Amino acid sequence: MSEQQENRDYDHKKSVRDSASIANNQTEENSKPQQGTEPFPVWLLIICGIILIVGGTYVGANSGGFEFANNSKSGYEPGVPAGLSGKAPELSEFEKYVNGGEAVYKAVCNGCHQATGAGQGQIPPLLESEWITNGTERFAQIVLNGIRGPITVKGVSYGGQEMQAQKGALNDKQIAQVMTYVRSKFGNISETVVTKEMVESARQKFGDRPTQYTAGELSPAETMLQGDQPDWVSPEEPEAEPENGGESAQIHSGQMGNEQINSKTA
Ligand code: HEC
Repeated sequence: MSEQQENRDYDHKKSVRDSASIANNQTEENSKPQQGTEPFPVWLLIICGIILIVGGTYVGANSGGFEFANNSKSGYEPGVPAGLSGKAPELSEFEKYVNGGEAVYKAVCNGCHQATGAGQGQIPPLLESEWITNGTERFAQIVLNGIRGPITVKGVSYGGQEMQAQKGALNDKQIAQVMTYVRSKFGNISETVVTKEMVESARQKFGDRPTQYTAGELSPAETMLQGDQPDWVSPEEPEAEPENGGESAQIHSGQMGNEQINSKTA
């Protein structure tokens, strides 16, 4: 083999090698499959499809539209947890009336006498106070016109702060209800209520007074406001309708701000 031929052979081999390596780099062959990326097997897809169709048909045919009545055992009554009737408790007329008073109390008296009726500092307690458990006339006088100066409540003397008149802020019904609420909640008195008519006549008698009362000027401890009790107070006729049923009371303006409340229908 001549030297020239040898060189030609060499060139040829080299060019084949070069073009092969270029082809290798630009290959269009699929790359080596990676683990986990294999295509989903068709047979498994078909089995899944069959299971879905059969299962769906079964559930559809036997579920009864997922209605409770179609799925419960006959005679089964869903249980109600003890103490829950599933219905809001029926309120007696007295409770409705007292609830109206509670709304007034929360809007007006609460800030001073506290929700518990315990008072604070120079503000005396209403809880078991003799000023609320005794006669209702002096209680009405206090609420209508306010009170100032020394007053003894449950053996403790107060007088450092004044209570403003509430007659401008509250109407007769609201005063009647809040007095009934206070007497019931803090004095445990539920056999008598203060009616709107009682407060109306108290306002006529005492409402013109321009200043607050002092304790000594109040009516005697045992004097009750005069007037009939509503029919529903007597246990014999619990179903009777209260007077002024459905009327909603509003606080117009008051020392505690312009809070407007709708007392619950009584
Ligand atoms: C601004 C605070 C304030 C508000 C609001 C207020 N009170 Fe009073 N109340 C007092 C103070 C202070 C006294 C004691 C006054 C004194 O020392 O002479 C008092 C006294 C009383 C007393 C007589 C003493 C006692 O503790 O039994 C009654 C009853 C009473 N308040 C009921 C009410 C009711 C009901 C309301 C809501 C309608 C109300 N008060 C709203 C501050 C307030």
